[in-house]
Amino acid sequence: MDNVLEVRHLTTHFFTRLGVVRAVDDVSFTLRKKECLCLVGESGCGKTTAALSILRLVDSPPGRILGGEIIYQGEDLIKVDEARLRQVRGDRIAMIFQNPQSSLNPVFTVGDQIAETLKLHRGLSRNAALEKSQQLMTQVGIPQAAERGRDYPHQLSGGMKQRVMIAMALTCQPEVIIADEPTAALDTTIKAQILDILIDLKQSREMSLLFITHDFGTVASIADSIAVMYGGKIVESGATDDIFDHPTHPYTVGLLNCLPKITKERSQLMPIPGTIPSLTEPVAGCIFYPRCACRLPVCNRNSPPDVIVAGEHVVSCHLCNDNKR
Ligand SMILES: Nc1ncnc2c1ncn2[C@@H]1O[C@H](COP(=O)(O)OP(=O)(O)OP(=O)(O)O)[C@@H](O)[C@H]1O
Ligand SMILES: [Mg+2]
Repeated sequence: MDNVLEVRHLTTHFFTRLGVVRAVDDVSFTLRKKECLCLVGESGCGKTTAALSILRLVDSPPGRILGGEIIYQGEDLIKVDEARLRQVRGDRIAMIFQNPQSSLNPVFTVGDQIAETLKLHRGLSRNAALEKSQQLMTQVGIPQAAERGRDYPHQLSGGMKQRVMIAMALTCQPEVIIADEPTAALDTTIKAQILDILIDLKQSREMSLLFITHDFGTVASIADSIAVMYGGKIVESGATDDIFDHPTHPYTVGLLNCLPKITKERSQLMPIPGTIPSLTEPVAGCIFYPRCACRLPVCNRNSPPDVIVAGEHVVSCHLCNDNKR
């Protein structure tokens, strides 16, 4: 399969008054053509920072990309000039954010906003852009697109706004969509509809999707492969079936145990004990050590090796050396 986007050893830190926040620390993953890769992990583990780093959108200061490579079409996006980066942003790689309200301009109708992006990126005339914006709105499941296009953002529900954001991302026929928790604020049925739209678009437009979420339930319905992030690092990655059938890192096992099982009895939740790590404290060993139920003395001393447990299933854990499938 072709690799569309390769992130290698990406390291992005924030230099704050309270110290250096190691938000993304030596992170590597590969997004393939027509694939949905889910970056999953608890709040604050660095998912958004990793996504923003790909398009060099991290607030700077305080943020700075300290190292690594982001290879897209043979070029390293960390090294290209601003002009080239602008071509890639929005045009080839589009981003959908968690909160559509803050990404839409309240004083323009949503139809005009989509049309404006089409005029800018695809050079369409006003009429052609308005017509195309209606087509895109229909494609993302907005009924009566012509009418809805005349609405202002505040007149639309959260799910409809998120559809507008997806339509906006599609204006330039991107090869990659980065979606940062696009369904986090939506209720279950609307969430399922938005996920269906994204899965459909991935197939019909042969796009790749980097989907960010903290929710393993969402991951199950959309991911082809998964990268589990904890404390600024990828702790486990592999094909979706491998991760669900053979979760190996104690953190992944813990996350999967947190999924509610719907039975006639009350659902049993098993939270992972402890709290998310401070990313300002330097760590000699494994970042998960304080919360790990299986820890060994070596885990507190040496950083864990990346162990290939089977095929592309890679786990960053001392325990795995003896645990290969
Ligand atoms: N602009 C910033 N300035 C300082 N620290 C920041 C900034 N943005 C993020 N951080 C810190 O970087 C770390 C990673 O944050 P990030 O937003 O990437 O996590 P996340 O996994 O996306 O979390 P969530 O699921 O809550 O969206 C956190 O400790 C956060 O406080
Ligand atoms: Mg985030």
